[in-house]
Amino acid sequence: MSDPIACIEDFRVLARRRIPRMFYDYVDSGSYTESTYRANEADLREIRLRQRVGVDIGSRHIRTVMAGHDVAMPVALAPTGLAGMMRGNGEILAARAAQRFGVPFTLSTMSICSIEDVARSVPGPFWFQLYVMRDRAFVEHLIDRAASAGCTALVVTMDLPVGGQRHKDVRNGLATPPRMTLSNVLNMASKPVWSWSMARAKRRHFGNIVGHVKGVGDMTSLASWVRDQFDPTVTWADIEWIRTLWHGKLVVKGILDARDAQRAVDAGADVVVVSNHGGRQLDGAPSSIQALPAVVDAVGKRTEIWFDSGVRSGQDVLKAVAFGARGTLVGRGFLYGLAAAGEAGVHKSLEIIAAELDATMALCGCADITTVGREILAIRDAHSEM
Ligand code: GLV
Repeated sequence: MSDPIACIEDFRVLARRRIPRMFYDYVDSGSYTESTYRANEADLREIRLRQRVGVDIGSRHIRTVMAGHDVAMPVALAPTGLAGMMRGNGEILAARAAQRFGVPFTLSTMSICSIEDVARSVPGPFWFQLYVMRDRAFVEHLIDRAASAGCTALVVTMDLPVGGQRHKDVRNGLATPPRMTLSNVLNMASKPVWSWSMARAKRRHFGNIVGHVKGVGDMTSLASWVRDQFDPTVTWADIEWIRTLWHGKLVVKGILDARDAQRAVDAGADVVVVSNHGGRQLDGAPSSIQALPAVVDAVGKRTEIWFDSGVRSGQDVLKAVAFGARGTLVGRGFLYGLAAAGEAGVHKSLEIIAAELDATMALCGCADITTVGREILAIRDAHSEM
């Protein structure tokens, strides 16, 4: 890592230079007009923190517990499709970095490395994210595979019954492996580190699917993958069904509405993740941080709540925790590091977020992340002393 890296944004800029455009664009975009994608970051940035001084913050702790797991900070790596196209074997590299740092890694159904690849390559347990596919026997098989691989939490994503369109993916003809058009070949040839890592990678297609579903041998286009496999009839009854099959922690992701949060908990969720899928699904939905307080108020006493969509810094993590999230999921915040610098880049991204979180918490006069609450936010009663 020769370039000096101060923050996640530095990794984003490097990532754009270092990997083929279609894979960079896949990460750095939201659906349709990208209004929700942009609001996620902007609304987090808008929130003001209350500075407190004269407090002994000499001994500080950012460790906490997420879904019963001790974590070095309230962060886990989010499930993200195509991590293995940011860098060859990307899911394995990210899982290793996360485990070395002490935070959980979540493998996406839409990963390149398979569940078994990751289980063979990393020492500790990881989490698995599930999409409910039309073929319920295949869903059951995926759940069995995750259990056999020792996964300790199952993260079921509810906000992708149909795919939101990202215009850049359409224009770029996003596919894995990329089609060998002249412009793709030229673009890849200008990314030597990426090309070398991909040439040595175990796989270049969806490792959890290809070879495991009858009739699916060549599943290259993401759009057709979603159209053919994802089930638009998924309901809370499916969560109840999954609850009977999965004996570890059950995390339900993709909640923006307090009533949906109630339904998720009623159906057996141990954790609810407030998320708008990184602004990649319903364009026009509220930013995730805007949606968080109502969900906390509705189910925070009954269940653990996590937050994702827009987290790019330790300050963002602190704000989500202040609003009542026990933990956060970071997606782009590690993918940029992975694309720019592989395993070391993911580890460095986590170090950056942890250092920002620690310093910001300290400047708010707090010494322990587990005691942080809305009192550190300067949004309400701006004129009164608290
Ligand atoms: C998949 O989860 C995506 O957002 O592309």
